[in-house]
Amino acid sequence: MGPNLYEHRSKPLVLVVDDTEVNLRLMEGYLTASNYEVMLASNGALALQLVRDHLPQLILLDVRMPEMDGYAVCRKLKESDDTKDIPVIFITAESQADAEELAFAAGGADFIPKPVSRAVTLARVKTHIALYAQRRSLEGMFRNVIEFAPDAFVLTDEDGCIVQMNACAERLFGYQRHELQGIALQSLVPELLADGQFNTECRRKDGSLFPAEVSANLLETNHGRLNMAVNRDVSIRKRAESDLSESRQQLRELAAQSEASREAERKHIAREVHDELGQILTALRIDLSVLKIQLSNGNPTLEVKLQDMKDLVDQGIHAVRNVAVSLRPAALDMGLVPAIEWLCDHHAKHAGARFEFQTGDENIAIDDIRSVIVFRIVQESLTNIARYANASLVKVTVEQRQDDVCLLVQDDGKGFDVNEIARKKTFGLLGMQERAIALGGTLNIKSEVGLGTQIRVRIPIEATSGKCES
Ligand SMILES: Nc1ncnc2c1ncn2[C@@H]1O[C@H](COP(=O)(O)OP(=O)(O)OP(=O)(O)O)[C@@H](O)[C@H]1O
Ligand SMILES: [Mg+2]
Repeated sequence: MGPNLYEHRSKPLVLVVDDTEVNLRLMEGYLTASNYEVMLASNGALALQLVRDHLPQLILLDVRMPEMDGYAVCRKLKESDDTKDIPVIFITAESQADAEELAFAAGGADFIPKPVSRAVTLARVKTHIALYAQRRSLEGMFRNVIEFAPDAFVLTDEDGCIVQMNACAERLFGYQRHELQGIALQSLVPELLADGQFNTECRRKDGSLFPAEVSANLLETNHGRLNMAVNRDVSIRKRAESDLSESRQQLRELAAQSEASREAERKHIAREVHDELGQILTALRIDLSVLKIQLSNGNPTLEVKLQDMKDLVDQGIHAVRNVAVSLRPAALDMGLVPAIEWLCDHHAKHAGARFEFQTGDENIAIDDIRSVIVFRIVQESLTNIARYANASLVKVTVEQRQDDVCLLVQDDGKGFDVNEIARKKTFGLLGMQERAIALGGTLNIKSEVGLGTQIRVRIPIEATSGKCES
């Protein structure tokens, strides 16, 4: 915008343009009496000069003038950014039938038919000056909002060259406003898209890059087609996200490690209990049998006592076996698939449900740590089924697909609302999921009230680094 002369004026300035002296004086009288400041021009060229120099708030423009008529003057005013918004009211002669239409087509704000009435003139002038002032104040307010907005606004022309930006854009990109004028936006946003919202990297003046969320919008304005790019620095959010996912990954690895060492410990204790204690008890049992043969002759009391002792030792052997199995199912030593089959049999004996076990390949070459984890997932799923599902049919499928172990545990029981359970603080399902993710796999739970539950697991057979999902 050019000089803002009128901002400091106490009275609004009105320019009256007419080639007839009498009309000029008449208007001047009306307006000065109503407290307006008035400029007079007797032809179009003079009018244009006065408008440029003094920027009036309103122009009263006679249509019929020699050389340059009112429409031509108005069209000229509309060509310049500085003057195009100043309201123009045409003074039209009654004889001109299409005067109104022509007045609006030339960009006029209104028209007053001749002969002019004082009241009508003053009312129209007052209204349009008030409208113009209000519009300017709104535009100023809007400019301020953009200027001090917390996001970086960059306006480019159709060729992608920067025409305007706000204070935040200067700070964000490290440039001063004048340095950016005319530069291609692409030098700040290398992977710029024409339209839409996208995440990308932006470049500062010093060449450093930062992650940003950019929203590019094509605008049809009365300055032509422009593009508004709104840029938001998201480095803090990105850093927080990556810290969080890193710490979740660390937590997972820690949990996996402590689980692995717990399983190793269990395996060790199970061996000790089974081998050491088991052998001692077996030896004791053999000794008791020998003793019974040697000492029992004709001593029924002793015979009964020895039999009781043998029974006690048998109970001990049984208990040792149970402890060892619950610490680590011996079936796992035969491989993952037989171990899961054993688990299904074990549950089938104690549950009311029918079990169907299916497998493609008996020999899945999976290491001990992974196979224990898959086993524990099945164990947890079957425990949940026994506790909550009230199912009549349970299907367990385990098979190898390419490099993954795929597991499906399915029941036709009462099911549950997955979203609701996610809010509960229970660790069974969550632990299963975490175990699968820690091994670079996935675990999906599908359940619906009344329709049963499906737990689908996929775990890579070989350890895959960096494949973990968060
Ligand atoms: N197969 C299933 N059928 C019906 N409901 C189930 C089934 N599995 C889980 N649920 C529901 O989901 C809930 C959460 O299960 P989850 O194993 O996470 O926890 P929990 O068994 O209650 O406790 P935890 O396993 O920690 O001892 C259960 O309380 C139960 O309501
Ligand atoms: Mg559970």
